Amino acid sequence: MQLYLDTGNIDEIREIAGWGVVDGVTTNPSLLAKEAGRGDYRALLKEICDVVKGPVSAEVTAEDAEGMLRQAKSLVNISEHIVIKVPCIAEGLRATAMMFEEGIRVNMTLVFSALQAILAANAGAAYVSPFVGRLDDIGHEGVDEVEKIRAVYDNYDIDTQIIFASTRHPEHALQAALIGADICTMPAKVFRQMVKHPLTDSGIKRFLDDWSKTGFSID
Ligand code: G3P
Repeated sequence: MQLYLDTGNIDEIREIAGWGVVDGVTTNPSLLAKEAGRGDYRALLKEICDVVKGPVSAEVTAEDAEGMLRQAKSLVNISEHIVIKVPCIAEGLRATAMMFEEGIRVNMTLVFSALQAILAANAGAAYVSPFVGRLDDIGHEGVDEVEKIRAVYDNYDIDTQIIFASTRHPEHALQAALIGADICTMPAKVFRQMVKHPLTDSGIKRFLDDWSKTGFSID
């Protein structure tokens, strides 16, 4: 499973990408609101693309298809890595079909059902982002919806990639992998939680204590 970082924060991206585990980045307007006052948006996106060298999703804010396409064309000029996030509404589908014709890759976002995911794929989206945590928030099993999307896409050999999104905790990441999501996008916090295990920490301590008794050295 590919792992994406869900953030607009360049420091977090540099840190976690430095582990060698980040295949791409997803951003959205709310994540970017946290970066307000930290310079120019286009420069930030360029910097993210230079660090990650994989797909970087940037969201359009226009509400009509023509406006979305105009914004998309401007954003993809920043880097070949830019993927355009388009909301799953009728105008978003129309924009996705137009972008497909232009060779612009779309990540259809704010997807909450397998039915929406079918439309996204048919419009030509390269990626679909079901928001699992937000479904959980309203008492649904978000994971079940991703499982349905996987089954439907497999039924028809649809190559739209599923991005398990709105990932809130490490268990979500495990569920994403077990279901067969192509990608899981996660905040830096979840990456940090995934790497931690108390037995790893105590194991290192014990090994180092024992090593200090050997009198040997590596360097
Ligand atoms: O990738 C989508 C994500 O940014 C939304 O997450 O936690 O705001 O539901 P959240």
